[in-house]
Amino acid sequence: MQEIFLEEIAIHDIVTRLGDEITRDFQGEEVYAVCILKGAALFFSDLVRAIKLPVQLDFMQLSSYGSGSASSGQVKILLDLASSVEGKNVIIVEDIVDTGLSMHYLMENFRHRRAKSVRLCSLLSKPSRRKVDVRVDYCGIEAPDAFLVGYGLDYAQKYRNLPYIGVLKPEIYAKN
Ligand code: IMP
Ligand code: MG
Repeated sequence: MQEIFLEEIAIHDIVTRLGDEITRDFQGEEVYAVCILKGAALFFSDLVRAIKLPVQLDFMQLSSYGSGSASSGQVKILLDLASSVEGKNVIIVEDIVDTGLSMHYLMENFRHRRAKSVRLCSLLSKPSRRKVDVRVDYCGIEAPDAFLVGYGLDYAQKYRNLPYIGVLKPEIYAKN
């Protein structure tokens, strides 16, 4: 690890704030929280406990970068939702929005499924890397253009279980 980007306590504060924002915005309603596997799994489990509303949980997996660190730009659904989202307040829960290609695709996909509303909550966002415009309704924190791992984020499926988020040493992924 090159350096720590977010300590456990900082992550906790961000998650609490995001949970409060969602709770306030959906007062009197129910939300349908969709975890984007695998990266958002840890964030998701903390976030849903910070939302003080009736929440249903569902899971989806999209095609990822493979084992490397560069996006292919192609998005595919590897695992789809268990139920219909028609008429529901969907909150997509993602770990990080990078080029924006995955979330751009998914938000459009949910509108076709006739969700009542579709919002995006991402722990991290790298605005400097965007290829398409994506509105992150609930954004944890902006991240630098560096490869981050931990708290669900991986490099070649490793480091997901770190309780903090760190910057991976460039030497580790420069080899690929
Ligand atoms: P996008 O379609 O380029 O926005 O890709 C977003 C996905 O790429 C995220 O869900 C992550 O799985 C992955 N990703 C992007 N940046 C990083 C990073 O710094 N560390 C780990 N995974 C990342
Ligand atoms: Mg991901």
